[in-house]
Amino acid sequence: MNAQARDRLVAVARDLLAHAREQTTPLASGVMELDASVYTDKDRFERERTLIFRRLPLMLAASCELRAPGDYKAMDVAGVPVLLVRGRDGVARAFLNICTHRGSIVADGCGNASRFMCPYHGWTFDAEGALVGIAGRADFGDVDMAAKGLRPFPVLEKAGLIWAILDPASTLDIGTFLSGYDAMLEGFGLSTWRVLESRTLKGANWKLAFDAHLDFYHLPVLHRNTFGPRISPKAFYYHWGPHQRLTRPERPENRVIPDHANLFGMADAAESDWPAEALMLGEWILFPHVSINSFYDGGRGILISQIFPGDTVDESWTVQTYLMQDEPDEAQRAAALRQAAFLAHVVADEDLPMSIRQQRALESGLLPAVCFGRNEGGGQQFHRWIERIMETDDAGLDILFRDGLNE
Ligand code: FES
Ligand SMILES: [Fe+2]
Repeated sequence: MNAQARDRLVAVARDLLAHAREQTTPLASGVMELDASVYTDKDRFERERTLIFRRLPLMLAASCELRAPGDYKAMDVAGVPVLLVRGRDGVARAFLNICTHRGSIVADGCGNASRFMCPYHGWTFDAEGALVGIAGRADFGDVDMAAKGLRPFPVLEKAGLIWAILDPASTLDIGTFLSGYDAMLEGFGLSTWRVLESRTLKGANWKLAFDAHLDFYHLPVLHRNTFGPRISPKAFYYHWGPHQRLTRPERPENRVIPDHANLFGMADAAESDWPAEALMLGEWILFPHVSINSFYDGGRGILISQIFPGDTVDESWTVQTYLMQDEPDEAQRAAALRQAAFLAHVVADEDLPMSIRQQRALESGLLPAVCFGRNEGGGQQFHRWIERIMETDDAGLDILFRDGLNE
């Protein structure tokens, strides 16, 4: 983590400790109304899939999911087949996972491979996306093989995470979009972590599913049987461009957090001694569709939640990937797996069913607007940025993110 990123994190921690001491909570300036049709309108949904999910950098995988050369992961992202592969040169790349012959999906699932053979007629691509073999080459006729490789997407691998823009022609600078947020995420040191497990959960409209990651207001109510009715509903929101961090004004009572990671135990220590680990707690919101949370059962871990729009306005997929900092022993692994299963239960049996009921209710069309309170600044910020981006043409995106950083 560079000095500037650490300074930013220390400033957040200082602010948080001051508010905890004075028992104050900053709030958004007002209540925000949001047209309920943003969750139900089919045309709008198609525009979001294009203007958000095909124009913005998306955090598609942790680097440790593609640790070794040849490691790959195929995924469907808002209707775009994507193949992530780490090449023999160690570089992570993202390709359109569509065969340049006649459009078959080339690779499925995840694994390790030096070559990808299309299952239709057997064209073969290497781990850097080049077309290296055409079945029955002599009879096929003239093809410029160099021009028929898999179509690459712009990629940036930083902070142990991999972002891609699902538009081969995009000129948007991913670093500008990240607004220095990636430098703060370096504080996790994720490039050396490992995957514990991953699962996919179905929900309603992707923004309804993501809204539940943007506030703590609902925790003691919707999650009274899991997190408990006494968990604090207060969240502090900090933002950098469209990205955010939610954190709490006090130590969460129901979490295992070791002393060295507990910010509230070190208020008397010099700021220069605050360990990076304590500065990383809370929830990291990687706009437009990812959240990262820290947990300590069985050793230091994070849960990455990626929310992807489904095929229709009323469908989304939440991919939960649990990473651990260190290789766990058997007992630690069991504890971490219990934590991951608990978090899956909370989301699959409480948050996502709520989103499905909201969806059905809003589709009646009879509630014109929903609202976000002054204590729900995270949702306000998220929806304002979605609107802003939908209204901005391709040429204006770079400027939007440059300026957005300074607001
Ligand atoms: S579609 Fe891939 S080889 Fe024909
Ligand atoms: Fe929740």
